Amino acid sequence: MLVTGSIEEIRSTVKLWKREKLTVGFVPTMGALHEGHLELIRKAKSEADRVVVSIFVNPKQFGPNEDYDEYPRMQKEDLRACRKLRVASVFAPSVSEMYPPTSRFSISLNQLNRHMCGASRPGFFEGVVLVVNKLFNIVQPDLAVFGQKDIQQFRILETMVQEFNHDVELKMGEIVRAADGLALSSRNAYLSNDERLKAPLLYRTLQQIETEVNDGVTELSEQIGYRKAELEANGLQIDYLDIYAYDTLEPVSKLKKGCNYILAGAVYIGSTRLIDNIIIDL
Ligand code: PAJ
Repeated sequence: MLVTGSIEEIRSTVKLWKREKLTVGFVPTMGALHEGHLELIRKAKSEADRVVVSIFVNPKQFGPNEDYDEYPRMQKEDLRACRKLRVASVFAPSVSEMYPPTSRFSISLNQLNRHMCGASRPGFFEGVVLVVNKLFNIVQPDLAVFGQKDIQQFRILETMVQEFNHDVELKMGEIVRAADGLALSSRNAYLSNDERLKAPLLYRTLQQIETEVNDGVTELSEQIGYRKAELEANGLQIDYLDIYAYDTLEPVSKLKKGCNYILAGAVYIGSTRLIDNIIIDL
């Protein structure tokens, strides 16, 4: 497995593969790999001849009061996991390799980020779009796999690929969960034992609302208000909890047959922020 931090080296490696007519799958990550990431790698492996995983804690997607410094970094374990899955190359650049001090450009985004995580994390998706845009230009994969766990990120990147004409196919990996339903996340490591016990409540709440929808309820505001109060009574602080149109990511007040929705929530448990979602196709 080639492990490199050099843009030039990963580029020339991928070029050689392409000359041999091998297809390239790509899984961008910020490291601290867990079973969710590993499933994305397995999916990429099943669909491409060579898989590149990037590990880069992207400073541009962290706000000034967010956890850039604390974000778990465990490259040795990550490389071991990648080797085990027969990843062909890990691209793990330094911040200066990705963002030389001479960087002059940023990308702005004015739709798809007005609600959900975009509303509470200003600049976050601009940082994600910038880094993934650069990573796609560096690696030039045939396909890239991202998780449903970060559904707003997925939808924004799908749109980026269309609008910037990237020649890459995006694939969505299902959410991998712990036995009690909690979506795996590198940030779950921040939870105390007590907090960890409460964490599955977010997914349970989404499931309860999904059941209402499946039972034919089309106006959810009362139900959502009630569920929010219930979560708060259990000591979780709500960032958002709502149902959004799959295409626009705008909140929806009345559901219609034949449309696709995302039921999504973000909560704080202590200072840890957790997100989760369920896709609903009516
Ligand atoms: P990171 O949080 O490391 O996640 C990398 C990929 O793993 C993302 O596509 C994310 O959706 C997916 N993932 C995380 N938890 C998952 C789970 N429980 N089940 C399935 N997939 C899961 O997302 C990022 O990094 C960054 O924003 C990045 C795209 C790398 C840009 O910096």
